Amino acid sequence: MEICKLQNVSKSYMMGEKVSPLQNINLVVNTGDFISIEGSSGIGKSTLLYVMGSLLKIDEGKLYLDNKDVNSLTDQQLTNLRAEKIGFIFQENNLIQALTLQENLEFAQALGKKRITDSQEIVTLMERLGLLERKDYLPNQLSGGQRRRAMIARALINHPSLILADEPTNDLDDFWANEIVQLFVEAINKGCAVVIVTHNNKWAAEATVQYRLKYGKLALLDK
Ligand SMILES: Nc1ncnc2c1ncn2[C@@H]1O[C@H](COP(=O)(O)OP(=O)(O)OP(=O)(O)O)[C@@H](O)[C@H]1O
Ligand SMILES: [Mg+2]
Repeated sequence: MEICKLQNVSKSYMMGEKVSPLQNINLVVNTGDFISIEGSSGIGKSTLLYVMGSLLKIDEGKLYLDNKDVNSLTDQQLTNLRAEKIGFIFQENNLIQALTLQENLEFAQALGKKRITDSQEIVTLMERLGLLERKDYLPNQLSGGQRRRAMIARALINHPSLILADEPTNDLDDFWANEIVQLFVEAINKGCAVVIVTHNNKWAAEATVQYRLKYGKLALLDK
């Protein structure tokens, strides 16, 4: 099932000089896909992920999420679609700083498709991610790796159809990076699609389809 499609998508930034990180990009993400996108720093990987999650407006082309042209949706419909279908792992910490780890996860759950809080599910996920002992800590009382895992937990808690992960293994040692990849594979086996953006080819190689972003274009890498 097609969950995300980019058709001739272009995106530029105008800040004095014009920067065009995405130029006529075509990409289809189907249920069961594990896609990695590599590329050097500043090339446009985060921009691409933001565009895929409809968090950034595109200049040209079309974005389809869950087979819907996002341009045909109202803001409310798009908000609901994102909340119900997409788990976004941001490159920078954007947990809610005034809420504890557990409260951050409860809040995310309350916004999800079931609109309920299931503390048992939160406990299970925190345990899996080695966070249970830190459940009452505020984000700034966590280590960098714990915060990264907390953001991953937040993205997984509502069982999204599409996980968009921006450098998810940053701040993690090999043990935890490997655990995260395993969690993604489990989600894929349950009917999710995962797109990870990374500059680390070790973890990119875990994906079944690898792309490289360079000079505005996506190129398929041979496995
Ligand atoms: N809001 C913005 N306004 C202007 N330029 C921007 C904006 N966001 C990103 N850029 C520029 O677009 C380019 C791509 O940025 P992006 O964050 O997508 O790169 P990246 O590949 O994710 O880099 P990194 O690996 O360092 O995270 C950069 O040159 C950056 O300066
Ligand atoms: Mg980035």
